[in-house]
Amino acid sequence: MSEVRGRVRIFDTSLRDGEQAPGCTMTLPEKLKVAEQLARLGVDVIEAGFPAASAGEVDAVSAVAQRVGSARGPIVCGLARTAERDIATCAAAIRDASRRRIHTFIATSDIHLKHKLRLTREEVLRRAADAVTLARTFVDDVEFSPEDAGRSDWGFVSEVLAAVIEAGATTLNIPDTVGYLTPAEYGFLIERVVAQASKHPGVVVSTHCHDDLGMAVANSLAGVRAGARQVECTVNGIGERAGNASLEEVVMAIATRPDYFSVDTGIATQEIARTSRLVSACTGVYVPPNKAVVGSNAFAHEAGIHQDGVIKHRATYEIMTAESVGGDGSLLVLGKHSGRAALRKRLCELGIELDDEPFRAVFDRFKALADRKKVLDDRDLRALAGGAPEGSSGRYELDQAQVTCGTHTIPTATVRMRCPDGSLATASGTGDGPVDAVCRAVNGVLGELGQLCEFQVHAVTEGIDAVGRVTVRVRDFHTGVVYLGHGVQADIVTASAEAYVSALNHLLAARDAAAGSSQAPGLRPGSASPGVSPANPGREPGAPGVPAPAAAP
Ligand code: KIV
Ligand code: ZN
Repeated sequence: MSEVRGRVRIFDTSLRDGEQAPGCTMTLPEKLKVAEQLARLGVDVIEAGFPAASAGEVDAVSAVAQRVGSARGPIVCGLARTAERDIATCAAAIRDASRRRIHTFIATSDIHLKHKLRLTREEVLRRAADAVTLARTFVDDVEFSPEDAGRSDWGFVSEVLAAVIEAGATTLNIPDTVGYLTPAEYGFLIERVVAQASKHPGVVVSTHCHDDLGMAVANSLAGVRAGARQVECTVNGIGERAGNASLEEVVMAIATRPDYFSVDTGIATQEIARTSRLVSACTGVYVPPNKAVVGSNAFAHEAGIHQDGVIKHRATYEIMTAESVGGDGSLLVLGKHSGRAALRKRLCELGIELDDEPFRAVFDRFKALADRKKVLDDRDLRALAGGAPEGSSGRYELDQAQVTCGTHTIPTATVRMRCPDGSLATASGTGDGPVDAVCRAVNGVLGELGQLCEFQVHAVTEGIDAVGRVTVRVRDFHTGVVYLGHGVQADIVTASAEAYVSALNHLLAARDAAAGSSQAPGLRPGSASPGVSPANPGREPGAPGVPAPAAAP
């Protein structure tokens, strides 16, 4: 491994370019939560917004500056066009940050000059230099971007950059605004700018790439190879149209290939998964399962050959570990492509040790079932290993759920559950919202077993009659292990209840396995008696132990 030679700054623009994307709008409290998490992640610069855009943007940028802009915190940056008013508004909004930056921009491509700005090149050059001069009267740290640099005449871009360097710009950012360039072209452009900037010590060259052709990360990394020492990016790659370069991919490429990049970032990579989940929850933008680094399948293996390799040595099929990005660890998904090694490993984890002969029989049954069912869970495996038919025995099922909510009523839910022994139990609960209430009602039957630590709804189909897929994660209060549950229904409150119950079933099954319990699962301590409808369990909304689901609708 070669020696790390340089440091690349990570400039996060999730709150500005990311938030500009359709449907990514965040409320002020959400922006503050994201800003705090970005600070924990260790980004060097947070672009908090575009203050001249609205009074709300001014408030958000000011609030971020106050919340995370300490002397040891990230640089807080605001975006401004070259207009005087934009720059003054931006300067006022970032005033409370100890380390602050004004980022000013103007387009340099002929297509923008002719159709959007209706300015000559001379006018653009003058406005750029004047804006930087003005910004420097407010702050020492000024970034300049020639918007649409990728499609501009690069000779003209050089002229503009020379003028802004002269006026005091400290960072030269090179936007491929419409994601047009290839990595080789973008790398070449950055190399030119780095050569120009190298005559001015202290001036940093930055990348800013959009993903219209799916090349934003590759282009950013080509820029790093060419000498850029700042990368502008967003969490989960959110941003205008197809998005911006994704922070987690850029950072993990640099971390995974020090031999190739010879640079380092200041990112605490183990905070990446948490940051991704937070941004997804705040923006409502679902992270696809196959998304690099943060997708739910990024560390999941189903193919038998892969599973066998990962069991023997993780590095056979993993170039980084899930733990290094704060994930839960690699996941062996048992399905029709899985092999003997993975099945045996999972059965062992469930406390089921089989000799070769019975194992062969279980494996045959496993393959037969896997042909009919996409993914097999622990209940199926237990049933297969125990010779019992697969099905619903051994777990709780939501039989009925009734929920009332509205503007003038306390959200209240009553559930009827089918218990593992076939009996029915009923309980009610109230909560901060319908989902909270239904989860509390479920707790009335099963007891308080864990903390609901993640809640996501994803529309599977389009339109107002969309089917919602709910994913929850529940952390076992005793072991700290997190269990996943899914529910799919047109009614998302019922889907939420199903997802919650399915996660609790996994949790109970794991507890049974750990206890080595051979007895058939029955009612657990804290459960309601069959057929009895306990009074509202008496927990007030927000009572400890049953936190309100995140982003409950
Ligand atoms: O994509 C772009 O050109 C921008 C600039 C404002 C930097 O976001
Ligand atoms: Zn952009």
